[in-house]
Amino acid sequence: MARVLITSALPYINGIKHLGNLVGSQLPSDLYARYMRARGHEVMFICATDEHGTPAELAAAKAGKPVAEYCAEMHAVQAGLARGFRLSFDHFGRSSSPQNHRLTQHLAGRLRAAGLIAEVSEKQVYSPADGRFLPDRYIEGTCPNCGYERARGDQCEECTKQLDPTDLINPRSAISGSTDLEVRETKHLYLRQSALRDRIDAWIDSQTGWPVLTTSIARKWLHDGDGLQDRGITRDLDWGIPVRDGTDDWPGMEGKVFYVWFDAPIEYISATAEWAEANGLPDAAWRRWWRTDEGADDVRYVQFMGKDNVPFHTLSFPATLMGSGEPWKLVDYIKSFNYLNYDGGQFSTSLGRGVFMDQALAILPSDYWRWWLLSHAPESSDSEFTWENFQASVNKDLADVLGNFVSRVSKFCLSKFGPAVPDGGEWGDRETALAAEINRRLRVHEGCMEAMEVRKSAAELRAIWVLGNEYLQEAAPWSVFKSDPAAAAMQIRLGLNLVRLYAVISRPFIPDAAAAMMAALGCDDWSWPEDASAALRLLEPGHGFSVPDMLFRKITDAERDDWAQRFSGTRG
Ligand code: 2FM
Ligand code: ZN
Repeated sequence: MARVLITSALPYINGIKHLGNLVGSQLPSDLYARYMRARGHEVMFICATDEHGTPAELAAAKAGKPVAEYCAEMHAVQAGLARGFRLSFDHFGRSSSPQNHRLTQHLAGRLRAAGLIAEVSEKQVYSPADGRFLPDRYIEGTCPNCGYERARGDQCEECTKQLDPTDLINPRSAISGSTDLEVRETKHLYLRQSALRDRIDAWIDSQTGWPVLTTSIARKWLHDGDGLQDRGITRDLDWGIPVRDGTDDWPGMEGKVFYVWFDAPIEYISATAEWAEANGLPDAAWRRWWRTDEGADDVRYVQFMGKDNVPFHTLSFPATLMGSGEPWKLVDYIKSFNYLNYDGGQFSTSLGRGVFMDQALAILPSDYWRWWLLSHAPESSDSEFTWENFQASVNKDLADVLGNFVSRVSKFCLSKFGPAVPDGGEWGDRETALAAEINRRLRVHEGCMEAMEVRKSAAELRAIWVLGNEYLQEAAPWSVFKSDPAAAAMQIRLGLNLVRLYAVISRPFIPDAAAAMMAALGCDDWSWPEDASAALRLLEPGHGFSVPDMLFRKITDAERDDWAQRFSGTRG
């Protein structure tokens, strides 16, 4: 039994995530966590909301709420949706937790003591009316390029030109509208990544088997141009983790907070500490996952994320941990994803384009979405959600292949042999061959799951479902029954055992359907089919079962068209 630590990139707090966000980290990490548990490994699966930064402040202001209150509410909403999608986190934390405040400040203090933090003086816009420095996007004015009057200090949304706040004509504070703005000197902290470049480079080189998508991004940042640059880790915001060094104030840093990307990955660790506290466990319980001097040497740590997050996880976060000089566990494998597009364009949170997690659950149960998203995960390239494709995959894979198999076997058995597994004697050649073929394909499926090849794993799972249908078609117990009821009984006994095997191996993908299948079989034996031939004999003659309710219904053309129409425009 191995110990596997799994983290999903932390969703930003500002708003409900769309299906593209979901398939980029939370859902595939859940698949892997569930599979690892099913194989008997000890798993710690962590996620949290990423709560700091300007977008959180702006979203709270838009909602007319104090930011702490907004974050608490949105955390509850996101946690509810995670449960709705059956994401099996051991803990869903908050980057604003006291644990994360403490650990972030502690690590900053260690980096400071190691000489890895530089204090840099910069000129920045200050608003006396607001009593604060203004980040670029808190300054508005007229775009020098197109004349748009509400251009932001970082970019004009109208003509997309990248701007500096000083480019704006008639600049004003986006908070108060004040035009009384001045440029002042202020100090910021920089993480001296350049000083850690060789260590990070060597660490990346020592990783074997990482996906090219991951290493090519890291190498680009390490080697292109002047190489790895130092990175600002403080901001002038109210909301965030105050800049202190763990034990002391930090002179000159009053009123400043750490940059959201500095504290967010640290929350992976802090959330594990939150987990321990929530479960009344001592610190040692979380430290054995994270401290190589306290047991984490044996841990395999896997991170899931979208490709845009790769630089922070291959460079900045390792720099933070390595630079601390403390024995923190570094990631062993990074699984990164491309983007999922929506019906000929992009999912867009700001435009409300596409299907969002709450809307998805309002129209269909989570298994339908889980299946489509996982079987179409954007791995080797971007992929696209279309309603036609969603309908076809649900109707074929889930309803016709899996659902139909379960329903035919259980209904036929009930009508001919009653509500218990029939006997009918020993298997014949066809059954032995089927078990051998299932064994072979199971090993292929397991290989894909171990390798986190999500799409291939789904395809292999489907292929195993298809084997059951083909068997049923060829064995044809309904006609055999007429001449040889015992042989038909044996075939159906195998069929019911296949239903159990399907429940076990499908559970990481479609946990609710798997539970319904298992419940109908009156069974709670989730042991993995190491040997299909033994697994297919597990339910013995006389074992009671019932016919499950329809597992998956088909999506009609009318629904498909209605949904396509409903989700094409903006979110209401
Ligand atoms: O891109 C994002 O959605 C970020 N909120 C991911 C953060 S991952 C981690 F570092 F916390
Ligand atoms: Zn413009």
